[in-house]
Amino acid sequence: MVTQTWDPTIYQRDAGFVAALGAPLLAVLAPQPHERILDLGCGDGALTVQLAASGAAVVGVDSSPTQIAAATKRGLDARVIDGHALSFENEFDAVFSNAALHWMLEPTRVIAAVERALKPGGRFVGEMGGVGNVESVVSAYSAELADRGIAVGPFNPWYFPSADEYAAHLAQAGFVVNAIGLFARPTPLPGDVGDWLRLMTQSFLNAIPESGQASLVAQVRDRIRPQILREDGVWELDYVRLRFTATRR
Ligand code: BEZ
Repeated sequence: MVTQTWDPTIYQRDAGFVAALGAPLLAVLAPQPHERILDLGCGDGALTVQLAASGAAVVGVDSSPTQIAAATKRGLDARVIDGHALSFENEFDAVFSNAALHWMLEPTRVIAAVERALKPGGRFVGEMGGVGNVESVVSAYSAELADRGIAVGPFNPWYFPSADEYAAHLAQAGFVVNAIGLFARPTPLPGDVGDWLRLMTQSFLNAIPESGQASLVAQVRDRIRPQILREDGVWELDYVRLRFTATRR
């Protein structure tokens, strides 16, 4: 079963770079002061405040109560709502999403909900992990759990589609796909990959009892070290992004 919880302080420390790397997506969105914008999977609101600074009326949603509490502290209109269960209708000029859609494992439900939330002509601008994203980590968990007689599938919390697959889902839901593409973005981590693994891969870790989780992290770290530890001592993860813009008909 997929399980993940967030501590906003640790998230800020070990994954604060996620919002920084998402900033260029704001330029793609080009928010306007008169617009009403939904930030889907807003997390602690680090990018949402930048959206709001454009003068647009912004609502942030996220399934994590702890992250929404952190976003609310920033003075944002932030609500605990799972992306599969959005109930907005014809309300938003744009839906924006950075580094969140890959945590939502039923993309057709999410895309249909986004389509309903948008006004006709509204735009959906997103960036998420694409096919091959953090493949080093996924392969290492697959191998380590297989060694323990466990199939990784039910514990993998991520959906990393190809451009063709995601474009087909968007089109099927009635969107015009204006642009969609994959690009590699090798991402240096602020510290040891062990911190990132403990923060981001709880679902894989929860495949085994808590007593074994520290050694599972150590073994995954050992496996991926030759691929992702640079000579200068920086851990650099093999991120692959899928970025798109689409318009509701
Ligand atoms: C990502 O942004 O691609 C990502 C974040 C956490 C875990 C896996 C992927």
